Amino acid sequence: MKILIFNGSPRKQGNTVHLIEAFMMRAIELGNETVRYDLDRMFIKPCKACDACANNKGRCVLKDDFNAIYEDILEADGILFAAPLYWYSLPAQLKILIDRLYCLQGLNFKTGSKKVGIIGACADSTEDSFQGFLYGLEKSIEYLGWENVGKVLATGVWGPNDVLKTAKLKEAADLAEKFT
Ligand SMILES: Cc1cc2nc3c(=O)[nH]c(=O)nc-3n(C[C@H](O)[C@H](O)[C@H](O)COP(=O)(O)O)c2cc1C
Repeated sequence: MKILIFNGSPRKQGNTVHLIEAFMMRAIELGNETVRYDLDRMFIKPCKACDACANNKGRCVLKDDFNAIYEDILEADGILFAAPLYWYSLPAQLKILIDRLYCLQGLNFKTGSKKVGIIGACADSTEDSFQGFLYGLEKSIEYLGWENVGKVLATGVWGPNDVLKTAKLKEAADLAEKFT
């Protein structure tokens, strides 16, 4: 299975990346191919709502790093969205990518079956803080007809290595097993 990993954290070695690495290691052990996109280091413009994609077989007219991602999304069997919680919501790095999925309207949002997992990290001590983060993401996954296979939410992690002291790395590795 080909699994795309979208990393929404700007930290090079932060909590999200530690969780992604645990997920990836297990996913690869299980024989999957993984492709990781560090969105903060990519040039992706926000959707302009021009609707050109509606008559363009789902191709976006903007020229940026999304073009390569788009081909991979069509091909992928699985996707992992991983990000820190920013202001009780998605960080801009990931939100811009999700907005650009609007171009899939040109394919009537038909992209085949895909398994999708979610990883989140936040400083607050309660999972309740993820409500705004999860709502848009999970509704969008459902709208796209993709299968939501599970999530790992690391709470109480502020500094970049805090997640290393938790049991969440094991949970992230276990999440990879849902991609079969
Ligand atoms: C701009 C910004 C906004 C944040 N907003 C929240 C928040 O609303 N709730 C929260 O619990 N933590 C918040 N945090 C803390 C991060 O979610 C936390 O440090 C997380 O572990 C960072 O993950 P990373 O190391 O993968 O980047 C915020 C951090 C930043 C930089």
